[in-house]
Amino acid sequence: MPNPSLLILPGDGIGPEVMAEVRKVIDWFDSNKNVSFEVTEDLVGGCAYDAHGAPISDETMELAQSVDAVLLGAVGGPKYDVLDFSLKPERGLLRLRKEMDLFANLRPAQCFDALADFSSLKRDVVAGLDIMIVRELTSGIYFGEPRGITDDNEGGRVGVNTQRYTTAEIRRVARAAFDLARKRGNKLCSMEKANVMESGVLWREEVTWVHENEYSDVELTHMYADAGAMQLVRWPKQFDVIVTDNLFGDLLSDAAAMLTGSLGMLPSASLGAPMDNGRPKALYEPVHGSAPDIAGQDRANPIACILSFAMALRYSFDMGQHADLVEGAVEAVLAQGIRTADLLGDEGSDPVSTAEMGDAVIAAMGEA
Ligand code: IPM
Ligand code: MG
Repeated sequence: MPNPSLLILPGDGIGPEVMAEVRKVIDWFDSNKNVSFEVTEDLVGGCAYDAHGAPISDETMELAQSVDAVLLGAVGGPKYDVLDFSLKPERGLLRLRKEMDLFANLRPAQCFDALADFSSLKRDVVAGLDIMIVRELTSGIYFGEPRGITDDNEGGRVGVNTQRYTTAEIRRVARAAFDLARKRGNKLCSMEKANVMESGVLWREEVTWVHENEYSDVELTHMYADAGAMQLVRWPKQFDVIVTDNLFGDLLSDAAAMLTGSLGMLPSASLGAPMDNGRPKALYEPVHGSAPDIAGQDRANPIACILSFAMALRYSFDMGQHADLVEGAVEAVLAQGIRTADLLGDEGSDPVSTAEMGDAVIAAMGEA
């Protein structure tokens, strides 16, 4: 068997800094566990626009389609705000998601015990929290047609986006969520706005169909997405797996992320259909953005990106034990009180740098 292949796209802002720490983890596996990856690196986002005039080139797309997994840092920055919509850094990420058909976006929100006091919610509300949001990623209002800004012929303009979901799109993401629920607490909550949107009515009916026909052993509930947002901040531990559409998933996953104390902690996996080798099409990325305000200062928290690589080990390469090793090391480092700036209150204790945090995780892996 050839070594598994990885395409690394560090992107913009803090992307390159946090990805450098992931490279250390990859090298550690090579030297210590005889687990080696064929790594290629390329451009996405604003840096790709600077180099090629497009947020991702056709060559990079082709590479992404050919590897076992893609690892992405972050895209975007104020410098690119003036660009035409179609050239914005975010379009590079959306093209990857769409053309690789990565329909299931897994966003775990896990509260590490050492950080429970960091949440804006009370400790007992978040301590031990472990939920998984499955966000549909390749359809809905992000991609629906018609879309655009046109004249309304009355001297004004009209902006249009379209929420559109098909039976097949809903069923496949529902199956992904039910499968995950079976491996966890066996509970799935589906969120939409069936009270006001036809696409929400269809969503509820199709999720129910999949449940009745294929997963009746899993406990299924439905919630309107606004009530779901409220319940997420009221008592998040009532949830195990949540499945929802592209836009609601974008919002709910940011809210869930903040429950855990810091956006700098949260990884994600975007998965598609299995390839010929049985591995799913896959892209892994931290949930935090490019954080241009702290880029280049060696202050960013690399943990979300390191945990995204752990998700790659688990979901692409069937290396669950190695994933456990990385996740355990992160937990150990936090328990030792090692903190990047985002994980410190105002008390003014000494934060470690991005590189020091990466080194600490690697040291903890060595001791495990
Ligand atoms: C996310 C981000 C993206 C999205 C942006 C960067 C296009 O907010 O991954 O949640 O809206 O999907
Ligand atoms: Mg988002």
